[in-house]
Amino acid sequence: MKALITSGGRGTRLRPITHTKNKHLIPVANKPMLHYAIEAVRDAGVTEIGIIYSADSDEVPRRIGDGSAFGIPITHIAQDAPLGLAHVVKISESFIDGDSFIFYLGDNMIVGGVGRFVEEFERCGSNCHLTLAAVRDPERFGVPEMCDGRIIGIEEKPAAPKSKYAVAGIYLYDQSIFEAANAIAPSARGELEISDAHQWLIDHGKVVTYSEITGWWKDTGKPIDLLEANRLVLDHMPARVDGSIDEDTVVSGNVIIEAGASVRHSVLRGPCIIGAGTVVEDSFVGPFTSIAEDCHVRGSEIDYSIVLRGCQILDVGPRIEGSLLGDEVELVGAEGRPRVNRFMLSDQSRVEVA
Ligand code: DAU
Repeated sequence: MKALITSGGRGTRLRPITHTKNKHLIPVANKPMLHYAIEAVRDAGVTEIGIIYSADSDEVPRRIGDGSAFGIPITHIAQDAPLGLAHVVKISESFIDGDSFIFYLGDNMIVGGVGRFVEEFERCGSNCHLTLAAVRDPERFGVPEMCDGRIIGIEEKPAAPKSKYAVAGIYLYDQSIFEAANAIAPSARGELEISDAHQWLIDHGKVVTYSEITGWWKDTGKPIDLLEANRLVLDHMPARVDGSIDEDTVVSGNVIIEAGASVRHSVLRGPCIIGAGTVVEDSFVGPFTSIAEDCHVRGSEIDYSIVLRGCQILDVGPRIEGSLLGDEVELVGAEGRPRVNRFMLSDQSRVEVA
C-alpha cells in the first residue's frame, strides 16, 4: 500500500502566515504539521509516500526531502494549480501505479494513527473506505447521508447537511477512484471535488465503507483549529528538559525545554514547549503554549499560543493569549509618553488590543 499526502492548496484561512509559509509546515508542538501526517502513514505500514505540492513553491520538497529523514521513500508531485482533491488523485495515478493507497490530507491531525483504518479497509475489501467524525459544524465539510448504517450519498459543504458527520481527510482507495476522478466535472467553484468522486463511486455500485473516528481529529484550516491541535499534542507529550532552567524559575505540569533553551526567573505552567536556543526571562509561559527556536521572551506573559521561530516578545503589558505569531515577529512594550499602540503589520494581519 502507498500513501498520498496533500500539501498544496492556498491556505487562505491562515493568512498572513501563509503568505510566506506553506500551512502544512506550520509547527504544532514545535514540529511541522506535515511530519505528523508522514509519520502516521509510515507507522501504518505503507511502503512509499507521494506528497502533492503546489508548483509555485518548492518549500515542501526542500524541507521534507527524499524521505530518508523519516525512514520511508518520498516522491514529490507538483500540482500546477489547486484544482481540487480529485485533481490531486488524478495527477498521482502513475505514482500509485496499480497499488491501493491512503489519501491523507496534510492539514488533518488525528490521535491514534491510521493503522486501524487500513485494517478495516482490508477486512471490508471495499473500493473506498471513508473516515467519519461527528462534528458540530458539518456544513464546513463533505457530509455523508446515511441509511441503515450505509452511506447512500455525499455532499460537499452542503447548506443543509443530511447528517451530523464530516468526512475526514483520511481516505482509503483501490483503483476505482481513478475512474471516478476521471469521470466527474468541476464544481461551481471550479474544483474537481473529492465528494463528487465519492458520489460517483456510490452511483456506480462500488463498495464504499467507513470507520467512525471516535477520538480526536481536527482539520486545521483555521487558527483556532491549529491552537486546539497544539493543545492536544502538548497534552500527550512527556516532560523533557534538555536545556537549562535556573533556580528562580517555578515549573508545574509537563514542560519540554529543548537543547540550548534557557529559562530564567520565570513561571512555566505546562504543558508547554520551549524551542532550541530560545531565552525566556522574567516571564510567565502558560499551558498549551509552543515557543519555537531562537525566540526571546522577556518581561511578558503568554499562554495558549503558538510562536514561530525567531520571535521577540519583550516587556509586553497585557497577557498574550490565543495567538499565532509567524517567524521573527516582534512584540515589544512601548516606552515613554504618550502611551500608544504602534503597529507594523503585513497584509491580512489581525490584532486585538486590550
Ligand atoms: O478535512 C476534511 C475535508 O477536506 C473534507 O470533509 C472535504 O470533503 C474535503 O473537500 C476537504 O475540504 P477542505 O475545504 O478542508 O479542503 P482544502 O481546500 O482545505 O484542502 C485540503 C487539503 O488538500 C489541504 O492539505 C490542501 C490540499 N489541497 C487542496 C486542493 C483544493 C491540494 O493539495 N490541492 C488542491 O487542489
